[in-house]
Amino acid sequence: MTLQPQWLRQGYIDAPVPAHLDVAAEIRRMAAEKHAIILAHYYTRPEIQDIADFVGDSLALAQHAAATDARIIVMCGVHFMAETNKILCPDKLVLCPDLNATCSLAESCPADAFERFVAAHPDHKVISYVNTTAATKALTDVVVTSTNARRIVESFPKEQPLIFGPDSNLGGYINSVTGRNMPLWDGACHVHRRFSLAHIEALKAEHPEAKVLVHPECPAPIAAMADIVGSTAALLRYAVESPAQSFIVVTESGILHEMQRQAPSKTFLTVATQAEGDAPAASCNACEYMRLITIEKVYNTLRYEWPAVEVDADIAERALKPIERMLALSK
Ligand code: 13P
Ligand code: SF4
Repeated sequence: MTLQPQWLRQGYIDAPVPAHLDVAAEIRRMAAEKHAIILAHYYTRPEIQDIADFVGDSLALAQHAAATDARIIVMCGVHFMAETNKILCPDKLVLCPDLNATCSLAESCPADAFERFVAAHPDHKVISYVNTTAATKALTDVVVTSTNARRIVESFPKEQPLIFGPDSNLGGYINSVTGRNMPLWDGACHVHRRFSLAHIEALKAEHPEAKVLVHPECPAPIAAMADIVGSTAALLRYAVESPAQSFIVVTESGILHEMQRQAPSKTFLTVATQAEGDAPAASCNACEYMRLITIEKVYNTLRYEWPAVEVDADIAERALKPIERMLALSK
Protein backbone atom coordinates (compact mmCIF):
# COMPACT_ATOMS: atom_id res chain seq x y z
CA MET A 1 0.00 0.00 0.00
CA THR A 2 1.28 3.48 -0.80
CA LEU A 3 2.20 5.78 2.06
CA GLN A 4 -0.83 7.69 3.34
CA PRO A 5 -0.31 11.26 4.64
CA GLN A 6 -2.20 10.46 7.87
CA TRP A 7 0.51 7.90 8.79
CA LEU A 8 3.24 10.53 8.77
CA ARG A 9 4.30 11.67 12.22
CA GLN A 10 7.09 14.05 13.19
CA GLY A 11 10.15 11.87 12.52
CA TYR A 12 8.54 8.45 11.98
CA ILE A 13 5.80 6.54 10.16
CA ASP A 14 2.81 5.24 12.09
CA ALA A 15 1.31 3.01 9.37
CA PRO A 16 -0.69 0.05 10.68
CA VAL A 17 1.12 -3.27 10.34
CA PRO A 18 -1.22 -6.00 8.98
CA ALA A 19 -2.35 -8.21 11.90
CA HIS A 20 -1.65 -11.51 10.11
CA LEU A 21 1.93 -10.51 9.18
CA ASP A 22 5.03 -12.15 10.67
CA VAL A 23 6.72 -8.74 11.06
CA ALA A 24 10.19 -10.09 11.80
CA ALA A 25 10.13 -12.38 8.75
CA GLU A 26 8.82 -9.57 6.55
CA ILE A 27 11.58 -7.22 7.73
CA ARG A 28 14.19 -9.86 6.87
CA ARG A 29 12.55 -10.43 3.46
CA MET A 30 12.51 -6.70 2.65
CA ALA A 31 16.11 -6.29 3.86
CA ALA A 32 17.25 -9.02 1.46
CA GLU A 33 15.17 -7.65 -1.43
CA LYS A 34 16.30 -4.06 -0.92
CA HIS A 35 19.94 -4.91 -0.15
CA ALA A 36 19.66 -3.34 3.31
CA ILE A 37 21.69 -4.05 6.44
CA ILE A 38 20.05 -3.71 9.86
CA LEU A 39 22.38 -2.56 12.64
CA ALA A 40 21.26 -2.46 16.28
CA HIS A 41 22.78 -1.25 19.53
CA TYR A 42 22.75 -3.50 22.63
CA TYR A 43 20.29 -1.13 24.31
CA THR A 44 17.51 -1.61 21.78
CA ARG A 45 14.46 -3.78 22.47
CA PRO A 46 15.11 -7.57 22.39
CA GLU A 47 12.94 -8.11 19.30
CA ILE A 48 15.00 -5.49 17.43
CA GLN A 49 18.27 -7.15 18.39
CA ASP A 50 16.81 -10.48 17.23
CA ILE A 51 16.11 -9.28 13.66
CA ALA A 52 19.35 -7.28 13.22
CA ASP A 53 22.20 -8.33 10.94
CA PHE A 54 24.60 -7.05 13.56
CA VAL A 55 24.27 -5.98 17.20
CA GLY A 56 27.14 -4.08 18.76
CA ASP A 57 28.55 -1.16 20.74
CA SER A 58 29.02 2.30 19.24
CA LEU A 59 32.46 1.56 17.82
CA ALA A 60 31.51 -1.75 16.22
CA LEU A 61 28.39 -0.21 14.69
CA ALA A 62 30.44 2.55 13.07
CA GLN A 63 33.01 0.00 11.86
CA HIS A 64 30.24 -2.13 10.37
CA ALA A 65 28.66 0.83 8.62
CA ALA A 66 32.02 1.86 7.16
CA ALA A 67 32.60 -1.66 5.80
CA THR A 68 29.19 -2.56 4.38
CA ASP A 69 28.36 -2.68 0.69
CA ALA A 70 24.61 -2.60 1.37
CA ARG A 71 22.50 0.02 -0.41
CA ILE A 72 20.53 0.90 2.72
CA ILE A 73 21.64 1.04 6.37
CA VAL A 74 18.82 0.80 8.92
CA MET A 75 20.33 2.08 12.15
CA CYS A 76 18.37 0.85 15.16
CA GLY A 77 19.79 3.04 17.87
CA VAL A 78 19.86 6.72 18.64
CA HIS A 79 20.19 9.56 16.15
CA PHE A 80 23.92 10.25 16.57
CA MET A 81 24.64 6.63 15.58
CA ALA A 82 22.65 7.02 12.35
CA GLU A 83 24.31 10.38 11.73
CA THR A 84 27.77 8.81 12.15
CA ASN A 85 26.80 6.15 9.62
CA LYS A 86 25.64 8.80 7.15
CA ILE A 87 28.90 10.74 7.54
CA LEU A 88 30.86 7.55 6.88
CA CYS A 89 28.60 6.46 4.01
CA PRO A 90 27.30 9.63 2.29
CA ASP A 91 26.16 7.72 -0.80
CA LYS A 92 24.03 5.22 1.11
CA LEU A 93 20.48 5.65 2.26
CA VAL A 94 20.70 5.70 6.08
CA LEU A 95 17.34 5.16 7.74
CA CYS A 96 16.57 5.89 11.38
CA PRO A 97 13.19 4.34 12.32
CA ASP A 98 12.39 7.30 14.61
CA LEU A 99 14.29 10.58 14.31
CA ASN A 100 13.13 11.50 17.83
CA ALA A 101 15.55 8.92 19.24
CA THR A 102 18.00 11.50 20.48
CA CYS A 103 20.58 11.13 23.31
CA SER A 104 20.63 13.23 26.49
CA LEU A 105 24.42 13.22 26.47
CA ALA A 106 24.67 14.45 22.87
CA GLU A 107 21.99 17.06 23.65
CA SER A 108 24.00 18.27 26.66
CA CYS A 109 26.64 19.60 24.27
CA PRO A 110 25.26 22.12 21.74
CA ALA A 111 27.83 22.94 19.05
CA ASP A 112 27.81 26.72 19.62
CA ALA A 113 28.57 26.36 23.35
CA PHE A 114 31.15 23.64 22.66
CA GLU A 115 32.81 25.98 20.17
CA ARG A 116 33.32 28.51 22.99
CA PHE A 117 34.80 25.75 25.19
CA VAL A 118 37.19 24.87 22.35
CA ALA A 119 38.09 28.54 21.79
CA ALA A 120 38.83 28.96 25.51
CA HIS A 121 41.50 26.25 25.23
CA PRO A 122 43.83 27.26 22.39
CA ASP A 123 46.70 24.78 21.82
CA HIS A 124 44.52 21.94 23.12
CA LYS A 125 43.48 19.02 20.91
CA VAL A 126 39.79 18.30 21.12
CA ILE A 127 38.59 14.81 22.02
CA SER A 128 34.85 14.16 21.66
CA TYR A 129 32.86 11.15 22.70
CA VAL A 130 30.89 9.64 19.81
CA ASN A 131 27.68 10.58 21.70
CA THR A 132 27.64 14.01 20.05
CA THR A 133 25.86 15.66 17.16
CA ALA A 134 27.63 15.93 13.81
CA ALA A 135 28.04 19.68 14.39
CA THR A 136 29.94 19.04 17.64
CA LYS A 137 32.05 16.34 15.97
CA ALA A 138 32.96 18.92 13.32
CA LEU A 139 34.76 20.92 16.06
CA THR A 140 36.76 17.87 17.14
CA ASP A 141 40.23 16.49 16.44
CA VAL A 142 39.47 12.87 17.32
CA VAL A 143 36.23 11.11 18.17
CA VAL A 144 36.34 8.30 20.75
CA THR A 145 33.98 5.68 22.12
CA SER A 146 34.18 4.08 25.54
CA THR A 147 36.00 1.14 23.89
CA ASN A 148 38.93 3.17 22.60
CA ALA A 149 38.96 6.44 24.64
CA ARG A 150 41.88 5.40 26.86
CA ARG A 151 43.97 4.13 23.95
CA ILE A 152 43.34 7.24 21.84
CA VAL A 153 44.07 9.66 24.70
CA GLU A 154 47.29 7.74 25.41
CA SER A 155 48.27 8.01 21.74
CA PHE A 156 48.94 11.74 22.28
CA PRO A 157 52.30 12.80 23.77
CA LYS A 158 51.97 13.71 27.48
CA GLU A 159 52.94 17.31 26.73
CA GLN A 160 50.06 17.74 24.26
CA PRO A 161 47.16 19.32 26.20
CA LEU A 162 43.72 17.85 25.48
CA ILE A 163 40.14 18.80 26.25
CA PHE A 164 37.36 16.23 26.49
CA GLY A 165 33.61 16.39 25.98
CA PRO A 166 30.79 15.94 26.49
CA ASP A 167 30.70 13.16 29.12
CA SER A 168 32.34 14.36 32.34
CA ASN A 169 32.08 10.88 33.86
CA LEU A 170 33.88 9.13 31.01
CA GLY A 171 36.37 12.02 30.81
CA GLY A 172 36.99 11.86 34.57
CA TYR A 173 37.50 8.11 34.36
CA ILE A 174 39.99 8.51 31.48
CA ASN A 175 41.82 11.23 33.45
CA SER A 176 42.07 8.85 36.42
CA VAL A 177 43.50 5.91 34.44
CA THR A 178 45.86 7.95 32.25
CA GLY A 179 47.08 10.46 34.86
CA ARG A 180 45.88 13.29 32.58
CA ASN A 181 44.09 16.37 33.78
CA MET A 182 41.96 17.14 30.72
CA PRO A 183 39.45 19.96 31.20
CA LEU A 184 36.02 18.34 30.82
CA TRP A 185 32.76 19.49 29.32
CA ASP A 186 30.07 19.23 32.00
CA GLY A 187 27.72 16.73 30.33
CA ALA A 188 26.25 13.41 31.40
CA CYS A 189 23.80 10.69 30.38
CA HIS A 190 20.54 10.95 32.30
CA VAL A 191 20.44 7.14 32.77
CA HIS A 192 24.04 6.43 33.77
CA ARG A 193 24.44 9.37 36.13
CA ARG A 194 21.47 8.17 38.18
CA PHE A 195 22.34 4.60 39.12
CA SER A 196 21.76 4.15 42.82
CA LEU A 197 24.96 3.52 44.79
CA ALA A 198 22.85 2.33 47.73
CA HIS A 199 21.16 -0.27 45.54
CA ILE A 200 24.51 -1.56 44.23
CA GLU A 201 25.75 -1.86 47.83
CA ALA A 202 22.57 -3.72 48.84
CA LEU A 203 22.90 -6.13 45.88
CA LYS A 204 26.56 -6.69 46.68
CA ALA A 205 25.71 -7.47 50.34
CA GLU A 206 23.10 -9.97 49.18
CA HIS A 207 25.32 -11.48 46.42
CA PRO A 208 28.92 -11.00 47.61
CA GLU A 209 30.19 -13.33 44.86
CA ALA A 210 28.63 -11.22 42.08
CA LYS A 211 30.95 -9.22 39.84
CA VAL A 212 30.08 -5.55 39.30
CA LEU A 213 30.02 -4.43 35.64
CA VAL A 214 30.06 -0.65 35.16
CA HIS A 215 29.81 1.53 32.06
CA PRO A 216 32.22 4.52 32.23
CA GLU A 217 29.31 6.96 31.79
CA CYS A 218 28.57 6.28 35.50
CA PRO A 219 29.92 8.65 38.17
CA ALA A 220 33.29 7.94 39.88
CA PRO A 221 31.88 6.52 43.18
CA ILE A 222 30.09 3.83 41.13
CA ALA A 223 33.12 3.12 38.92
CA ALA A 224 35.09 2.66 42.16
CA MET A 225 32.87 -0.34 43.02
CA ALA A 226 33.47 -2.06 39.66
CA ASP A 227 35.25 -5.29 38.88
CA ILE A 228 35.35 -3.98 35.32
CA VAL A 229 34.67 -0.55 33.83
CA GLY A 230 34.04 -0.80 30.10
CA SER A 231 31.94 -0.26 27.02
CA THR A 232 28.85 -2.38 26.43
CA ALA A 233 30.92 -4.78 24.30
CA ALA A 234 33.63 -5.04 27.00
CA LEU A 235 31.05 -5.69 29.76
CA LEU A 236 29.40 -8.37 27.63
CA ARG A 237 32.71 -10.08 26.89
CA TYR A 238 33.67 -10.02 30.58
CA ALA A 239 30.30 -11.52 31.61
CA VAL A 240 30.59 -14.33 29.06
CA GLU A 241 34.27 -15.18 29.65
CA SER A 242 34.42 -14.77 33.44
CA PRO A 243 34.13 -17.94 35.58
CA ALA A 244 31.80 -15.92 37.87
CA GLN A 245 28.14 -16.93 37.73
CA SER A 246 26.40 -13.72 38.80
CA PHE A 247 26.78 -10.10 37.79
CA ILE A 248 25.47 -6.72 38.90
CA VAL A 249 25.00 -4.84 35.63
CA VAL A 250 25.38 -1.08 35.98
CA THR A 251 24.40 0.07 32.53
CA GLU A 252 21.25 0.35 30.46
CA SER A 253 19.17 -2.79 30.91
CA GLY A 254 18.82 -3.63 27.18
CA ILE A 255 22.26 -5.27 27.30
CA LEU A 256 20.81 -8.09 29.43
CA HIS A 257 19.20 -9.62 26.36
CA GLU A 258 22.56 -10.38 24.71
CA MET A 259 24.20 -11.27 28.04
CA GLN A 260 21.49 -13.82 28.77
CA ARG A 261 21.60 -15.13 25.19
CA GLN A 262 25.37 -15.68 25.31
CA ALA A 263 25.48 -16.92 28.93
CA PRO A 264 22.06 -18.49 29.62
CA SER A 265 23.09 -20.22 32.84
CA LYS A 266 24.40 -17.04 34.52
CA THR A 267 22.48 -14.54 36.66
CA PHE A 268 22.34 -10.86 35.74
CA LEU A 269 21.02 -8.36 38.28
CA THR A 270 19.90 -4.88 37.22
CA VAL A 271 20.34 -1.76 39.31
CA ALA A 272 17.73 0.88 40.10
CA THR A 273 18.21 4.50 39.17
CA GLN A 274 17.50 7.42 41.44
CA ALA A 275 16.80 11.02 40.49
CA GLU A 276 17.86 13.69 42.99
CA GLY A 277 15.52 13.59 45.97
CA ASP A 278 13.61 10.51 44.71
CA ALA A 279 13.56 6.89 45.89
CA PRO A 280 15.37 4.36 43.65
CA ALA A 281 13.08 3.19 40.85
CA ALA A 282 13.74 -0.28 39.47
CA SER A 283 12.26 0.36 36.06
CA CYS A 284 14.14 3.54 35.14
CA ASN A 285 17.39 2.00 33.93
CA ALA A 286 16.16 1.91 30.34
CA CYS A 287 17.03 4.64 27.83
CA GLU A 288 13.68 5.89 26.58
CA TYR A 289 15.29 7.15 23.38
CA MET A 290 16.57 3.67 22.47
CA ARG A 291 13.12 2.25 23.30
CA LEU A 292 11.51 4.55 20.70
CA ILE A 293 12.79 2.11 18.08
CA THR A 294 10.01 -0.46 17.81
CA ILE A 295 9.66 -3.39 15.44
CA GLU A 296 6.71 -1.67 13.73
CA LYS A 297 8.83 1.43 13.07
CA VAL A 298 11.63 -0.73 11.64
CA TYR A 299 9.09 -2.41 9.36
CA ASN A 300 7.71 0.94 8.21
CA THR A 301 11.08 2.61 7.72
CA LEU A 302 12.26 -0.24 5.52
CA ARG A 303 8.98 -0.53 3.65
CA TYR A 304 8.67 3.20 2.83
CA GLU A 305 12.42 4.06 3.00
CA TRP A 306 11.74 7.02 5.30
CA PRO A 307 12.89 8.83 7.40
CA ALA A 308 16.41 9.16 6.00
CA VAL A 309 19.18 10.84 7.98
CA GLU A 310 20.81 13.79 6.25
CA VAL A 311 23.85 15.76 7.40
CA ASP A 312 24.78 19.22 6.12
CA ALA A 313 27.59 18.72 3.56
CA ASP A 314 30.05 21.16 5.19
CA ILE A 315 29.47 19.71 8.69
CA ALA A 316 29.73 16.18 7.33
CA GLU A 317 33.05 16.94 5.64
CA ARG A 318 34.51 18.37 8.87
CA ALA A 319 33.03 15.63 11.09
CA LEU A 320 34.35 12.84 8.86
CA LYS A 321 38.02 13.53 9.64
CA PRO A 322 37.83 12.97 13.45
CA ILE A 323 35.66 9.86 12.94
CA GLU A 324 38.16 8.46 10.43
CA ARG A 325 41.02 9.22 12.82
CA MET A 326 39.20 7.21 15.48
CA LEU A 327 38.68 4.26 13.12
CA ALA A 328 42.34 4.35 12.08
CA LEU A 329 43.43 4.35 15.74
CA SER A 330 41.06 1.47 16.59
CA LYS A 331 42.42 -1.20 14.23
P1 13P B 1 28.82 1.92 24.02
O1 13P B 1 29.74 2.60 23.09
O2 13P B 1 29.53 1.30 25.18
O3 13P B 1 27.96 0.94 23.29
O4 13P B 1 27.87 3.01 24.72
C1 13P B 1 26.98 3.79 24.01
C2 13P B 1 26.06 4.50 24.87
O5 13P B 1 25.24 5.28 24.44
C3 13P B 1 26.16 4.29 26.29
O6 13P B 1 25.13 4.96 26.95
FE1 SF4 C 1 22.51 8.54 25.23
FE2 SF4 C 1 22.38 7.70 27.74
FE3 SF4 C 1 20.71 6.72 25.96
FE4 SF4 C 1 23.34 6.07 25.87
S1 SF4 C 1 21.87 5.54 27.48
S2 SF4 C 1 22.04 6.64 24.14
S3 SF4 C 1 24.25 8.01 26.53
S4 SF4 C 1 20.80 8.85 26.63
